[in-house]
Amino acid sequence: MERTTARSTEKSWSTYKRYRKLLASGTGTLSKRPRFEPEEPCYMDHGQGCRLWDIDGNEYIDFRNGLGPISLGYCYPAVNKAVAAQLQKGTVFSHPCVLEGEVAERVCEMVPCAEKVRYLKTGGEACAAAFKIARAATGRDIIAQCGYNGWVNSLASGANVLPRLREDAPAGVPVEISKMHRALPWKDLAPYEKLFAEEGANVAAVAVAMDYATADQGANFLHGLRELTRKHGALLFLDEIVSGFRVALGGYQDYCGVDCDLAVFAKGVSNGLPLSVIAGKAAVMDALERAVVSSTYSGEALSLAAARATLDVYREHDVIGHLYAMGRRFQEGVNGLFAQYEYPLEARGLAPCLALTDCARGRTVDNAVDTLFRAAYAHGLSLYLVCYINFSHQPEDIDEALSRLEDTLKTLA
Ligand SMILES: Cc1ncc(COP(=O)(O)O)c(C=O)c1O
Repeated sequence: MERTTARSTEKSWSTYKRYRKLLASGTGTLSKRPRFEPEEPCYMDHGQGCRLWDIDGNEYIDFRNGLGPISLGYCYPAVNKAVAAQLQKGTVFSHPCVLEGEVAERVCEMVPCAEKVRYLKTGGEACAAAFKIARAATGRDIIAQCGYNGWVNSLASGANVLPRLREDAPAGVPVEISKMHRALPWKDLAPYEKLFAEEGANVAAVAVAMDYATADQGANFLHGLRELTRKHGALLFLDEIVSGFRVALGGYQDYCGVDCDLAVFAKGVSNGLPLSVIAGKAAVMDALERAVVSSTYSGEALSLAAARATLDVYREHDVIGHLYAMGRRFQEGVNGLFAQYEYPLEARGLAPCLALTDCARGRTVDNAVDTLFRAAYAHGLSLYLVCYINFSHQPEDIDEALSRLEDTLKTLA
């Protein structure tokens, strides 16, 4: 379908308003809630590679990628074929599924800390399970959290209840439970040293999700945390839900060369089917023999078939190299255009998942990010705070996206 200049999202918005009355918060993924009427589409109809088409028929070059999980591309043939084949065989059984072991073999081969794995469906519940594993493995209670770990992060007062949204008294969380979670900052060891000095004997784990804008600078911080946690008998737990199978084959632990005890993966492992993976050292994961984590859908076969196919693509092709090459092309182009049009934003961080961050320029723009996103939709460009590259983005797609961005910036000049 060709891109048209006169775009309408009328069908999207009328449908959204109809269903909004029935759906609490409008949709279950709060970051997907449409905000920019009329430019933003509320519903996508289908995707292919790195492009999407909304229910009004408008086409977009996409950098949101389902908010991360689409690492190979929409409808990536090898994954779709594997899922279709598994669909003919069955989706969930009342016995374990061989795919559980086949995916485990691949994850343990690729991820440095992975000696044993467990599966769940979402990133948030994998983090919750990892907290339980850490507590059972150490016999301690406190979890120090850095960054967003899904909605369970709202257990900690002052934590990110959503990416970039902090709350001092998260609704629905008993104070006594919140006290067992401490929200601590990125790339600043001092508060961790203080916590360990005061309550080190009761700290089970430090859980870290990388900060996107400065992910290229996190190695020293992680090595410092490793030393500190080891000294005090606590676990180092990496939330690799975004970084896994994206910033390096073995995730952020691989990128930083840090030896962690426990990690969780989700986006990136199965190209968009719902699967999360908890991976860790055998001695830590064996806490699951005592601490119960169990779910009917843990061995659901469609997602595992998708994961096996996705990880095989990673093994056969240099997916990570491609994400970096396309990401750098995007980053250079985007930053060049922002500078040329004096738009106060900059793309920073690691090329496969660049963060669009505020940046001082000749002129100021109120809500520069939102203003850009709204205008970009009208030019067939779907951007996000974290712009994800997928394996289907080709140089010509990036160049076309940059040309759409330039059209967008001209209208905002
Ligand atoms: C770093 C990180 N951890 C955890 C989560 C939660 O994953 P899910 O939304 O699948 O529950 C997210 C989701 O955006 C995330 O970015």
